[in-house]
Amino acid sequence: MAPLISIKSSDDRLEIVNQLLLPHTTEFLEINSLEEAHDAIKTMKIRGAPAIASLAALSVSQHLTRGLKAIPAPDYLASRDNLKAHVDKILAYLFTSRPTAVNLGAATRRLTKVLDDNISAAQDTRAIAEALIAEGKAVADEDVGRNKEMAKWAGEWLLQRVKEQGGDVSGGVNVLTVCNTGSLATSGYGTALGMITYLHETNKLQKAYYTQTAPYHQGSRLTALELQTLQIPSVMICDTMVGSLFQHHNIHAVVVGADRIAKNGDTANKIGTYNAAVLAARHKIPFIVVAPISTVDLDVHDGSQIPIEQRPPLEACLVRGILYPNEGPQQQVQVMITPSGLEGIYNPSFDVTPAELITAIATEKGVAVKAAGASVFDLSPIV
Ligand code: MRU
Repeated sequence: MAPLISIKSSDDRLEIVNQLLLPHTTEFLEINSLEEAHDAIKTMKIRGAPAIASLAALSVSQHLTRGLKAIPAPDYLASRDNLKAHVDKILAYLFTSRPTAVNLGAATRRLTKVLDDNISAAQDTRAIAEALIAEGKAVADEDVGRNKEMAKWAGEWLLQRVKEQGGDVSGGVNVLTVCNTGSLATSGYGTALGMITYLHETNKLQKAYYTQTAPYHQGSRLTALELQTLQIPSVMICDTMVGSLFQHHNIHAVVVGADRIAKNGDTANKIGTYNAAVLAARHKIPFIVVAPISTVDLDVHDGSQIPIEQRPPLEACLVRGILYPNEGPQQQVQVMITPSGLEGIYNPSFDVTPAELITAIATEKGVAVKAAGASVFDLSPIV
């Protein structure tokens, strides 16, 4: 079956699959304004660091494409100063939609650079808008190709590592992942899930294990659907079962995506990633981060400087799904699993895994490991 997709775009038409309704209902939502794009990201109708950057960039392309077609032309096309003020404002607005994933900031900075370079070159406003439209589309289009590259780097690195340690990869490796990092979280193929797909495509995967990833359940709702669609042999575990899995099964690696990687390799990713890393270290299981270069934030020295998004407390009290047993028409419901009015809820969306616990970081440029005896990474060869 064809992989799932998170975004469809052509000319000024933009649609996303509403991830709040997956896996039971596939509904495409039209995005017709910057406000709708902002809302879709904030409310997690679309999520995953690369996918939210792609949607933000494409919504800017859509906005400017419509502006160029509009009669009369909008005021912001009347002068370079007007255009600069307008585009700066919309990029700043989109940037506020979610705080942890740096890809969003990388995309808005990239568009700001195109804007500023073209203004310095004294291009006319329509040409500048065209350049921004092309750049917005490029942010989304480049994602798939680089995902395949980083997936291959990471997959080959793991196979080599297992062999170096005297392991046998002929029957394939078992890997655990957290959250959802596949085609729904990116423009296609995926990062950590891309590595799993690569291993499967090369007949080197035995099984992919994945955590449910409470409270939003990206694992049981989205990763489960992606692995099922791709017919990749897989096993779901509850978040509480990682230690048991490592005690009773031969797991060759933990592989995760990232929302932001600090200069020293400290990595912010979905809540629960740190738990898996601590347990992996205890069991001497390699812990691999797979992410695009745009996820590396060289302005952030270490993980303590990464802003961690706190989601609304209510989200930790609710589970989305369909009524079970699901006879008759499927009905989407949210079920409350706590007493109503519960106070005192801790709901960070991400945690930071220290570089010390990470064995390897892969980007589209290659794989970095720490120097012997070092507790932090030098990421310069892979960024
Ligand atoms: O809150 P989410 O669902 O946007 O969090 C997603 C993750 O943490 C992913 O692991 C990360 O963005 C990498 S996606 C390729």
